[in-house]
Amino acid sequence: MDKFVITGGNKIKGSIDISGSKNSVLPILAATLLISDTCIINNVPRLRDVYTMVELLKYYGAEVEFDESIKINCSNIENKPPSEKVKDIRASFLLVGALLGRFKRVSMFMPGGCNIGQRPVDLHLKGFSVLGANQILECGIIDIFTKYLNGGEVYLDFPSVGATENVILAAVMAKGRTVISNCAIEPEIVDLADFLTKAGAKISGAGSDTIIVDGVDSLKGVEHSVIPDRIEAGTFMLAVAGTGGQCRINNVITEHIKPVILKLREMEVDITEEDDAVVVYSNGNIVNTDIKTMPYPGFPTDMQAQFTALMSKGAGTGIVNETVFENRFMHIGELIKMGANIAVEGRTAVVRGVETLAGAEVKATDLRAGAALIISALSAEGTTEIGNIHYIDRGYEMIEKKLSAVGCEIKRIEG
Ligand code: EPZ
Repeated sequence: MDKFVITGGNKIKGSIDISGSKNSVLPILAATLLISDTCIINNVPRLRDVYTMVELLKYYGAEVEFDESIKINCSNIENKPPSEKVKDIRASFLLVGALLGRFKRVSMFMPGGCNIGQRPVDLHLKGFSVLGANQILECGIIDIFTKYLNGGEVYLDFPSVGATENVILAAVMAKGRTVISNCAIEPEIVDLADFLTKAGAKISGAGSDTIIVDGVDSLKGVEHSVIPDRIEAGTFMLAVAGTGGQCRINNVITEHIKPVILKLREMEVDITEEDDAVVVYSNGNIVNTDIKTMPYPGFPTDMQAQFTALMSKGAGTGIVNETVFENRFMHIGELIKMGANIAVEGRTAVVRGVETLAGAEVKATDLRAGAALIISALSAEGTTEIGNIHYIDRGYEMIEKKLSAVGCEIKRIEG
């Protein structure tokens, strides 16, 4: 298995360009299944999860060219039993809403949990049922089918990102109006709605807690550029805060990472906001604060592991409260191997900052946990080896190249 070998202590200097958003391009790729025409998607990050999603679209018969952009035509797709490949990424469950919207029938493996939590899909299924779809679960495969999809009132008990996206995908060509209440507000929802609206869908309220979808008969091919990845941007901002130095991070929509900017300022990191960039300056000495993850626009759960890592070497004590996922502290055991002083009680971690972290052999346990270990390794004394970096490759495009270009000592060792 590949690993990263990182020698800590270098200050980050220079500039980093942020790639397109993983969590935006995945639902948009699923949405192309609804469109019997050619779509061109720009600013696509070259990530494992994107390649997996492209393979899944090809499995259903999509014609895909993936070079600088993705050119995709789903005119001749056909409904099929689920491919085993869907088990490689949870976001494949977004295919359900699109295939249901296109064919009024779909069968899919029920997704199991993952390292960060049980991750049920009950709210997705509740939405499909409100739209009139029957559901039969047998031997781990769920069959969802109906003669017609009719608009309805969907209340999401939790503002689930995936459930919001899946209900939109099923509703855009349903008969009549669908109202999704208490829906997710994340920027990736807005990007999906923008893409579908360009294609002729009638969607209003994206970015608020109530989305209205009026069904249309068909959608047309469009060209769309994916928003920048706010979590990649936040991750690099924390890397600079930890090592010290100054770095301009380009292709950033500062509104999307406001909680990260404000929390870093609380930690006495200097952040200057520009039109489509942030400039981070830090002397490497940060002051710990408290973090509580919440659905957007609250503090993003996808940045929790990275902040926990940063605070491991901050002054004072920080309390981290993870309210979104029930098991998102897997990185803490690995940070402790580097000398971190963190106590976990349920969904709360008490981080007592230490003077130094020491390089060690550690393993990524999930995508953001892997990013957290990189942040700590960059400011630790000595050398750190991070295993299981395939998790990291799922969400960060060429991270070792981007970090090496700003002065970090990081190498990928093919295993
Ligand atoms: C999306 O996952 C993101 N993934 C996650 O990013 C992100 O952490 C999460 O949203 C929250 O922001 C993609 O967009 C591909 P949820 P999703 O449904 O849609 C519960 C990363 O690191 N829930 O908003 O799966 C669920 O158990 C990944 O890039 C139900 O109870 O997240 C969880 O506790 C990790 N029933 C909470 O809602 C449901 O039917 C949030 O889940 C659905 C969700």
